[in-house]
Amino acid sequence: MSEETPTPGVSLDTIASLCKRRGFIFQSSEIYGGFESTWDYGPLGVELKRNIKQAWWKAMVQDRDDIVGLDSSILMSPKVWEASGHLSNFGDSLVECKSCQRRFREDELSHHKAVGDIESAAGACPECGGELSEPRQFKTMFKTFVGPVEEEAAVAYLRPETAQGIFVNFDNVLNSTRKKLPFGIAQQGKSFRNEITTGNFIFRTREFEQMEMEYFVKPGTDEEWYQYWRQERLNWFIRLGVRPERLRLREHEAEELSHYSSGTSDIEYFFPMGWAELEGIAKRTDFDLKAHAAASGKRLDYFDEESGEHIVPYVVEPALGVDRCVLVFLLDAYEEEEVRGEQRTLLRLHPALAPVKIAVLPLSRKDTLAPTARTVYELLRPRYMTQFDDAQSIGRRYRRQDEIGTPLCVTVDFDTLEDEAVTIRERDSMEQVRVPIAGLLDAISERLPDVG
Ligand code: GLY
Repeated sequence: MSEETPTPGVSLDTIASLCKRRGFIFQSSEIYGGFESTWDYGPLGVELKRNIKQAWWKAMVQDRDDIVGLDSSILMSPKVWEASGHLSNFGDSLVECKSCQRRFREDELSHHKAVGDIESAAGACPECGGELSEPRQFKTMFKTFVGPVEEEAAVAYLRPETAQGIFVNFDNVLNSTRKKLPFGIAQQGKSFRNEITTGNFIFRTREFEQMEMEYFVKPGTDEEWYQYWRQERLNWFIRLGVRPERLRLREHEAEELSHYSSGTSDIEYFFPMGWAELEGIAKRTDFDLKAHAAASGKRLDYFDEESGEHIVPYVVEPALGVDRCVLVFLLDAYEEEEVRGEQRTLLRLHPALAPVKIAVLPLSRKDTLAPTARTVYELLRPRYMTQFDDAQSIGRRYRRQDEIGTPLCVTVDFDTLEDEAVTIRERDSMEQVRVPIAGLLDAISERLPDVG
């Protein structure tokens, strides 16, 4: 982490165009001219996204004894949102320019924390300098109707956070797992917010996927766990290769805090448009469990054997959006360099995240190489996400794999037919080493220790 402003990386336009060209991310409903702020993940994007989710799930659930998973539904009783405070509090303050009619979130204007580093003199439109309207409250929960006849049907909401599914299942999870404090419940899933300002590619979208974990602790220990999770989550990004100088922790000002929070830190990333939130770590106190207990009339507490008392745990919550996380890993991995007079674009993605782990490349399309190349491909495919590519020159195929972040290429050439060995070529160093096919799986697992 650094206090100095880092050197800006690649632009969003460059990443968006690579994403489209190579099949990471497409504009939603593109053939109809698109649909505002919605995006579809293509064949490589879906792999990257699944790998990010899996890396989070492994670190947060599978590698730990104190956290279990959950998958709750998107539609929930509207009573949940009434009790949680979202129906009355969850929204943004909107201001509109009286001259150009552009709309802004008030907090973005006042804190400059927004995307695009919107700077404005108080009360003046950052786009045209025009006069701004008084702020209006704008509810950001999406409403829908449950039942076949709209007029008679019950109103329901698309969840704006997955966290409430965790709080309302607190007792179910506690009773079925017999976990002791401190323990956590983790969840990944789609959430929806009718945002006033969207944009910057997949940075802020109305439909998005979250990865959230509610960590239940004894009252009085939440500050200690808050510090722990701030560091732990920051380290997760660094372990997965994000440049530390483009990451920082920023404590929220009192007026930025959500209605449920007594303290929040953002892990911020240095995006092309400036520092902005990547993940939030919040102290939610006992706000949610108490609110649901009061509204439902059900006990939502924990019997502490040591003290012989029922206590309502406090909560520390690390929460982030998967889509924003995809954007960060792409932006951070992107590099252009010159190799022997030619430009090479590469994604230095951590192997655990790379959509394709290995590409098998026969040196030529000649029939003589095809059967051996296919055998090598079939040896690797059950263990690793592997691509077979025999189109165009070997140099172009290496470049294609570099550009999508494939850590290893395995080349089958005419010598292979004699010595039963192949060449492994590494993405970052471009080093090549010859290994016998019989030892190929071992050689690969040495090079991709975190994968598989
Ligand atoms: N649960 C925290 C958030 O959705 O931002």
